[in-house]
Amino acid sequence: MNMIDVENVSMCFNMAKEKHESLKEYLLAAVRGKLQFEEFYALRDVTMHVEKGEFHGLIGLNGSGKSTLLKVISGVFKPTRGRVSVHGTIAPLIELGAGFDMDLTARENIYLNGTVLGLTPQYITERFEEIVEFSELRDFLDVPLKNYSSGMVARIAFAIATLTKPDVLIADEILAVGDFKFQEKCEARMHELMSGGTTVLLVSHTIGQVERMCTRVTWLEKGSVKMEGDAKTVCEAYRQTEG
Ligand SMILES: Nc1ncnc2c1ncn2[C@@H]1O[C@H](COP(=O)(O)OP(=O)(O)OP(=O)(O)O)[C@@H](O)[C@H]1O
Ligand SMILES: [Mg+2]
Repeated sequence: MNMIDVENVSMCFNMAKEKHESLKEYLLAAVRGKLQFEEFYALRDVTMHVEKGEFHGLIGLNGSGKSTLLKVISGVFKPTRGRVSVHGTIAPLIELGAGFDMDLTARENIYLNGTVLGLTPQYITERFEEIVEFSELRDFLDVPLKNYSSGMVARIAFAIATLTKPDVLIADEILAVGDFKFQEKCEARMHELMSGGTTVLLVSHTIGQVERMCTRVTWLEKGSVKMEGDAKTVCEAYRQTEG
């Protein structure tokens, strides 16, 4: 059974073609209907299937479309063409700080972010200790998030997203900002979720980690699928063309 089906997906962004000196000039051009856009395809005809229980890696150079694809899968972007379907509940860990308010404390953000992910305040209260325990940030609970380091924000985001057992967990590089001990902890938590039936889709630039953790890998190049297959084969091919 497939948990994620991406079929012939293309994603086109309109990029402003000329620079405008000021906002006023930009608005004038807009009003006159003289804004010029260039179409840019971040994804071109991408087809990808992720089976239930798979630990699927997504690799590719900067700008190859990985984050865009994750956003299309999570429903942040509607694809210009093609079709995406995801079966079951999905926990997206896509951008660091998405779903957080940096002016609020960590304690407040745990409630805010949990609610965004569909948890009830009562449920969050019941599991609050567990979140604090996993993120190891007990002493910083009443500090505003803007004073946190990026690794600290990632700890909280990961702890909340994996609190319930999602059918699909999508993680975009956010683990990379954690220290090695936290990365090990995240790896363990992901394997634990997988033994409970969760399917994981992970973006990472740490190819060794992808090779070790993933069962299958999709390699994107300039918005297209360059290769898809078992982790070892795809990672080896990717390494050869690097540099
Ligand atoms: N909202 C947007 N508007 C315009 N262009 C965008 C938008 N989001 C992404 N792009 C463009 O799409 C391309 C793919 O970007 P994307 O963020 O998906 O790459 P990536 O593979 O995640 O790269 P990285 O490894 O650096 O995270 C880039 O050229 C980027 O500039
Ligand atoms: Mg990215």
